[in-house]
Amino acid sequence: MPTMIEINTASILDLGALRHLEQACFPKDAWPLLDLVAVLSFPGVVRLKATENNQMIGFIAGESREHEGVGWIATVGVLPEHRGKGAGRALLEACERQLGLPRVKLCVRYTNYEAIRMYERTGYRAIDHWLHYYNDGEDALVMEKRIAETGL
Ligand SMILES: CC(C)(COP(=O)(O)OP(=O)(O)OC[C@H]1O[C@@H](n2cnc3c(N)ncnc32)[C@H](O)[C@@H]1OP(=O)(O)O)[C@@H](O)C(=O)NCCC(=O)NCCS
Repeated sequence: MPTMIEINTASILDLGALRHLEQACFPKDAWPLLDLVAVLSFPGVVRLKATENNQMIGFIAGESREHEGVGWIATVGVLPEHRGKGAGRALLEACERQLGLPRVKLCVRYTNYEAIRMYERTGYRAIDHWLHYYNDGEDALVMEKRIAETGL
């Protein structure tokens, strides 16, 4: 029988699982421990985990910039062995709904084709690019989704 992926709010109790996920998903850009504590505890952040059999398999955080009418996806990742079965899309769409803003933006490494494909499939379009944004000098692609237009 296929197992169900559940999306729920994450909390500081998920710190250990998030640290493991971060290292598995972002070998080049893993956040330091303090940033992980902040993303799990600061106000104004939408933080959601995807779980399967009570194990965290994915995580997303979105920051609300209400005065600009924009939400920013700060991070999204799914454990390598759980990719390709809809957890990334489910996290992204749940985060967009909870942000509740007309536009959502994010940036992604120029060569992160898997993530760019997911963003394109869920309604994001490239709007800009930032030169040498990442530590190793790689450029960032900035993408945006207009929620009203996609009817989410
Ligand atoms: C990007 C990431 C979160 C996708 O998670 P996922 O659970 O595998 O994504 P999903 O299964 O929900 O797939 C979402 C869409 O992306 C597409 N997609 C996902 N992986 C893909 C791949 N390897 N090749 C082509 N398309 C892919 C799928 O076609 C899918 O669209 P569909 O539902 O219309 O078929 C995951 O690959 C990941 O954690 N990568 C490492 C961390 C990262 O780069 N995060 C983004 C930082 S900006």
